[in-house]
Amino acid sequence: MAQDSIESVLRENRSFPPPSAFTAGARLKPEDLKALRDKAAADHVGFWADLAREEIDWHEPFTQALDDSEAPFFKWFADGKLNVAYNCLDRHLETRGDKTALIFEGDEGDVEHISYRELHARVCRFANALKAKGIGKGDRVVIYMPNGPHAVVAMLACARIGAIHSVVFGGFSAPSLKDRIEDAQARMLITADGNYRGGKAVPLKEVADKALADGCDSIETVIVHKRGGLDVRMQDGRDIWWTDAEAGQGDDCEPEWVEAEHPLFILYTSGSTGKPKGIQHSSAGYLLGSIVTNKWVMDLQENDVHWCTADVGWITGHTYITYGPTAIGATQVVFEGVPTYPEGDRFWKMVDEHKVSVFYTAPTAIRALMKLGEELPERHSLDSLRLLGTVGEPINPEAWMWYHRVIGKERCPIVDTWWQTETGAQMIAPIPGVTATKPGSCTHALPGIAADIVDESGESVTESDKGGYLVIKEPWPSMLRTIWGDPDRYKQTYFGKFGDRVYVAGDAAERDDEGYFRILGRIDDVVNVSGHRLGTMEVESALVAHSAVAEAAVVSRPHEVKGEAIIAFVILKGDSGAEGLAEELRGWVAEQLGAIAKPEEIRFADGLPKTRSGKIMRRLLRSVARGEEITQDTSTLENPQILEQLQTSGH
Ligand code: WT7
Repeated sequence: MAQDSIESVLRENRSFPPPSAFTAGARLKPEDLKALRDKAAADHVGFWADLAREEIDWHEPFTQALDDSEAPFFKWFADGKLNVAYNCLDRHLETRGDKTALIFEGDEGDVEHISYRELHARVCRFANALKAKGIGKGDRVVIYMPNGPHAVVAMLACARIGAIHSVVFGGFSAPSLKDRIEDAQARMLITADGNYRGGKAVPLKEVADKALADGCDSIETVIVHKRGGLDVRMQDGRDIWWTDAEAGQGDDCEPEWVEAEHPLFILYTSGSTGKPKGIQHSSAGYLLGSIVTNKWVMDLQENDVHWCTADVGWITGHTYITYGPTAIGATQVVFEGVPTYPEGDRFWKMVDEHKVSVFYTAPTAIRALMKLGEELPERHSLDSLRLLGTVGEPINPEAWMWYHRVIGKERCPIVDTWWQTETGAQMIAPIPGVTATKPGSCTHALPGIAADIVDESGESVTESDKGGYLVIKEPWPSMLRTIWGDPDRYKQTYFGKFGDRVYVAGDAAERDDEGYFRILGRIDDVVNVSGHRLGTMEVESALVAHSAVAEAAVVSRPHEVKGEAIIAFVILKGDSGAEGLAEELRGWVAEQLGAIAKPEEIRFADGLPKTRSGKIMRRLLRSVARGEEITQDTSTLENPQILEQLQTSGH
């Protein structure tokens, strides 16, 4: 592990106890949390088994809680049967049928309220449409859609019939979409003509057509939701409008009762190679993690209006939009647009309009909105808010304090939640009515989550403010089950270092003298740009796919708003260094991977700093990108003169 990535970065001593008014109304009081922790400590598996019995409606109960006979391929509640969509919808019909499930707000401000009864009917109708197209249990369906109720319906409809969805974020490019479709061997693609985000058209169908034009032979049907009113080409025999697919379908659809371990979805995320990993989640274990964290951490209650600003294309949108809040019968806002359109007060305006009480967003959004000044939030009362959350990257204390003071009016606890696509649900986070929070710390592991920090030899790091590997030492129900089609990579990536029971998160972390966790960042070749995860190798592969590029190395450097920004060092073929090539390459990467992967800066050089064995010295490049003095040992460099060139090639 690179020493510079595990050094503690700052000291933060401010502490904010939960406001007593909040605690009085919270789901979990100090004594409840203590009871949960005691129980989990006494009987880890029994703790989760009891919760699974209480929180999930089972079609057939399970008899074995954890099967670890094939570790690290763990199975939870394996002989039980359930349906996730049933748990998210049907079980509310009697008590909450008329309750609003979704408050959708479109980019242009159009608003639609959808009750649980209506959502159930829509999901059933669409599930029937999927069946009519031959989709059934175990088939893969890729969803490439705008954030909105149709995406939620498509996901739940898959869950209802046991099809495995893989949502691909609408900002991903045609090649990225194609790779994911092919890796999953999806039979169906559900997309939209396109939509508007921040007033700009996003031509989803056009991008999808490009993806399908070369390859993707597994796709038989493309269902197209008409959202943006964009011109699209419909291919005869393959493409069908959503409304036509649904025509004549009934509002009832018997759920497919699946085994607890049946894959609910695959979600691709970046790793340290050029090929994204299809993170495979289970049905029951995943559902359980979603439910308990929405109760314990988000504290969602009957009268709350929850708003998670993530897109369903990310895991946050799966667990804190589609599955968790619906499984506990909550009301939530789903938003199609961006925080700054039409103006920088969009979030705050919507909080007032929809009386949002629990608000969950990313540090990058907070930093961007903070930069716009306090006048924008001050236009709105924000009185309805009672709890704030953050996710996706470390939050700097300055942004935390702004969120606390300007948005939460010092009245709302902030839950800084650490988790990953792989963990399925929040893992290290405050219990808002109990835990005193500290800016920049995600506080403590949740009950039943055996988080620890270990050194190179796997020993717990007990000293405070000393960094190490963040690990989870016992399996937990919502953990990933494997990497789709690549069990070896699963084992290697997550259990390759400390054995079959110890999950290695890929983050470095430290604890303060009160045991508060602070996440220091990734220790693999993964960067976090605006809360989105990217593999530096993916960007490198995209760059070398350009005809002018011979070699590329990609690193990150801190960025005020995005958290991290991508810097690429590029070696050109021959002397192809034409004017405007940096701009062209930036655009090329966006085309290959998606706009989020666009490098902030490209530097050209004649070579990369390599060891004599040919390994690129990334740490050195990181220092160069950050304009730091080089303190590392450069004596092993094959080509020391290259260093000076790299340092001066920037602007
Ligand atoms: C990586 C996971 C979890 C949903 C969104 C991102 C970083 C996540 C925090 C946090 C510091 C965080 C980690 C992690 N991360 N939450 N509260 N504090 N870092 O999911 O794309 O799977 O990325 O995001 O580095 O490993 P993801």
